[in-house]
Amino acid sequence: TDSYAVFGNPIAQSKSPAIHRHFCDQTGEDMAYTKQLVAEGEFKQAADTFFNGGGRGLNITAPFKLDAFHYATRLTPRAERAGAVNLLIKENDGSITGDTSDGIGMVNDMLNMGWELEGKKLLILGAGGAVRGVLEPLLGQKPSSVTIANRTVSKAEQLVKDFHDLGELNACSFDELSDGHFDVVINGTSAGLHGERVNLPDNLLASQAACYDMSYAAEPTGFLRWAEEQGAAKLTDGLGMLVGQAAESFYAWRHIRPEVVPVITELRRKMT
Ligand code: ATR
Repeated sequence: TDSYAVFGNPIAQSKSPAIHRHFCDQTGEDMAYTKQLVAEGEFKQAADTFFNGGGRGLNITAPFKLDAFHYATRLTPRAERAGAVNLLIKENDGSITGDTSDGIGMVNDMLNMGWELEGKKLLILGAGGAVRGVLEPLLGQKPSSVTIANRTVSKAEQLVKDFHDLGELNACSFDELSDGHFDVVINGTSAGLHGERVNLPDNLLASQAACYDMSYAAEPTGFLRWAEEQGAAKLTDGLGMLVGQAAESFYAWRHIRPEVVPVITELRRKMT
């Protein structure tokens, strides 16, 4: 049985083993997938032990995505640009490929729900690692423009510099946002994780706007409550993104594409 794992700290909350169990049930693949708590500063040692022991692949969650980026023997172009790796693949020659599947997981989730991105005006809140990881796949959907708003504007400006060749990108502060008529608003800040909420002006949303929170919780997040108050036509949290990145990982390792929708439904049922 090939073995896989997810490394993180904390890790107890991880749904990845359950998601991959669903994928195995669906596809009949035989693999083991465990979660492993890794001490800060010990990523390399833990990854060496795992791969030297025959492990075939890893998912990487906070705070090790940059460690995984440096650990990989080679990077996919999208991981190179994202500056982060959430997926390690042991190749037959023993080398380790680093990839990122978070962004494609999110974009696929949006497309699965029937959201349109092409030609649409997008707003992203936040400019940290999570946002950097989704910009390339989002811009690949050819939105008319993407505005990145962040508390620290210089970080949003840096992302514009790093990704401007892929599409129409702007940076601003939250205060500078007004009457945006945005079709799709994505929350990529970690404010909610600290029990905080970004203060946003009214009238940001176009009619029929869709709002996506990259984080998820059993209860609606602060951002999704805001979206509802503002009359968003569609809204969702990031559970589908989590399952989507797992599906891309499973595909990279097993070369079989699992179905995500039944797994999202099942996890949602268990959460509430
Ligand atoms: P992640 O890996 O989750 O992206 P990160 O790289 O630390 O974590 O980025 C966190 C993001 O959430 C940043 O955009 C941060 O804003 P700053 O760049 O100004 O720090 C944003 N953020 C965190 N707490 C916030 C809050 N209370 N209000 C607004 N933005 C917040």
